[in-house]
Amino acid sequence: MSSPRFVQLAPEAPARIRAELLAGLSAPVATIAPKYLYDALGARLFAAITELPEYYPTRTEAAIFARHLAEMAAELGPATTLVDLGAGNCEKAERLFTAFGVRRYVAVDISVDYLRTSLEHLQRHHPAIEMLGVGLDFTRSLCLPPEVGDGPRTLFYPGSSIGNFTPDEALAFLRQAHGECRGGALLIGVDLVKARDLLEAAYDDPLGVTAAFNRNLLRHLNRLAGTDFDLADWRHVAFFDAHHSRIEMHLEARLDTTVHWAEGERRFAVSARIHTENSYKWRVEDFTALLAAAGFSASRHWCDARGWFAVFTAHA
Ligand code: AVI
Repeated sequence: MSSPRFVQLAPEAPARIRAELLAGLSAPVATIAPKYLYDALGARLFAAITELPEYYPTRTEAAIFARHLAEMAAELGPATTLVDLGAGNCEKAERLFTAFGVRRYVAVDISVDYLRTSLEHLQRHHPAIEMLGVGLDFTRSLCLPPEVGDGPRTLFYPGSSIGNFTPDEALAFLRQAHGECRGGALLIGVDLVKARDLLEAAYDDPLGVTAAFNRNLLRHLNRLAGTDFDLADWRHVAFFDAHHSRIEMHLEARLDTTVHWAEGERRFAVSARIHTENSYKWRVEDFTALLAAAGFSASRHWCDARGWFAVFTAHA
């Protein structure tokens, strides 16, 4: 019985993470990177978000894959090595295994601890596929380890997480992805621009799950950076900025408050904000141009009937 292998690349030192978080908190516009939304509870809250009727991206993307999988596979050819970026529970990739003729599956996430259970479970159901779990913060740098092997790779980046990068960051990331494809291909989910009310409901749901997801960041921050945020002092704010074509998420002070840590503090006046996430919404033509600028060729895309979401294929 084959079993998955795991490789953990050097994680960022806690002192550096703390310094980075406190620098962000002390900046003129206080900002925390969205990856810190995902502690264990944050990951569960995000999973709950994907079940909300207002949060359309996950189910819309799944429907596009269900409908057009064979065409995508015909377009890209066999994905002998499938590299799943931000694999989590590996569910989305598993749906590709048969159609794409996957022989080696590489699940990448920030820590192998997130991958162990799901990959071991997956291996039992697909004993013929070689499986590797890689712990890597690819939002810092996408540099896959030699264990991934030689030969062309299909990089799979679903979920519209590319939208959590600024356009400049997205270009830099896609250039690195292009290099890592080694002549293979890219399969990527992208959320598209749509009416403001639909977008804002998806990021500020009436049940308050997204608000809990955003506010939970402060508990994570208290643990990582030794701050003393009181969650009761902060409310969730999300809106669509049409000029930048992005949803912005913020935490807004409900009252004048001061946050302390071992060697410093920051005062927030009532209504002051901490910027916690951008979620860019692309136009098909702009994302097509972005792929070309990153070095990809012959991109194609598939949309749902409402034109809310797109899955792109491209050759490296
Ligand atoms: C993970 N990422 C693509 C989600 C998004 O839609 O930008 C994160 C999220 N933030 C609030 N709701 C969901």
